[in-house]
Amino acid sequence: MMTSRRQFLAGAAASGLATAGLPGCSEADMPSYQDAVAATWRLPSSGTEGAERLRALVAAATLAANSHNTQPWHFRIEDRRIAILPDTVRRCPVVDPDDHHLYASLGCAAENLAIAARALGLAPHIAYDEAADAVTVDLEPGTAENSPLFAAIPERQSTRADYDGKPVPSEDIDRLLATAGSDDVDLLLVTEPGRMETILEYVVAGNTVQMEDAAFMAELKEWIRFSEGEAVKAGDGLFAGASGNPTLPRWVASPLFDLFVNAESENDKYSSQIRNSAGLVLFTANGTGPRYWVEAGRSVQRFALQGTALGLRNA
Ligand SMILES: Cc1cc2nc3c(=O)[nH]c(=O)nc-3n(C[C@H](O)[C@H](O)[C@H](O)COP(=O)(O)O)c2cc1C
Repeated sequence: MMTSRRQFLAGAAASGLATAGLPGCSEADMPSYQDAVAATWRLPSSGTEGAERLRALVAAATLAANSHNTQPWHFRIEDRRIAILPDTVRRCPVVDPDDHHLYASLGCAAENLAIAARALGLAPHIAYDEAADAVTVDLEPGTAENSPLFAAIPERQSTRADYDGKPVPSEDIDRLLATAGSDDVDLLLVTEPGRMETILEYVVAGNTVQMEDAAFMAELKEWIRFSEGEAVKAGDGLFAGASGNPTLPRWVASPLFDLFVNAESENDKYSSQIRNSAGLVLFTANGTGPRYWVEAGRSVQRFALQGTALGLRNA
């Protein structure tokens, strides 16, 4: 069975940035934004069995971080396996010409799926199948493990607001690095303000190049959902309200976006976020290509969930 978030879930996003489109649903039948969020951002219940359990795992997978919230995946549910395939219609050729964000997003989804599988009594094994160009999650019977990472799945979101400037206790840092690291992915933690400032210089330089590129801005705008109705109907994309922007009909918001969203405004935001955050983490996969990009995504997702479980906002 091939399915995707858009085909079978009803909802939108808690972080404002997610979810399920409602094909065939008329405007009048559409749930409110709040109802859509509540229907989407929830954990599968522990007693779920059989096909319903597999569908619940897919639902949990779709709550993962993913590039521009394009939801760039298809799920194929088999007997003892769920395959996650790239949805190439949802590529972002400008910001992600080699698809490494896309494959990292598949890795994020696979990690959520595996964590949910363990919580629902299955033993998952994740691999990248090069011939099939799919991330496969094999599922064998196991013992139910109710982990803090599972509970964090519907709580995690990419923080768009500023940070509080407080340091993170060293035991939390140790826990984050231990949870997120793997043989294929190295993590470099940077907390020293001078080194963070150097990284910020690169972030600002890169962001300036991107935001001065008309093709990048056009692609970004395509994925912005300016109103609650747009977010619920599309079931994907970046909800303006999640970044603290006003939610308006597209015909009003679109020219305002062109006028007010620029390199300077975004660089100011990133500078404040980085200067007020406890640290930056660089994830480096020990190779290149889909297999390694998937591994990097898995690691980032574990980090984000562990951070959430510890009460640490992250993005
Ligand atoms: C591979 C990847 C790349 C991303 N790149 C960016 C980025 O450049 N800027 C940004 O603000 N968020 C970025 N994100 C975060 C996504 O926009 C976010 O995960 C998505 O909108 C869903 O929202 P949520 O994480 O709050 O559920 C990225 C996420 C992934 C997985």
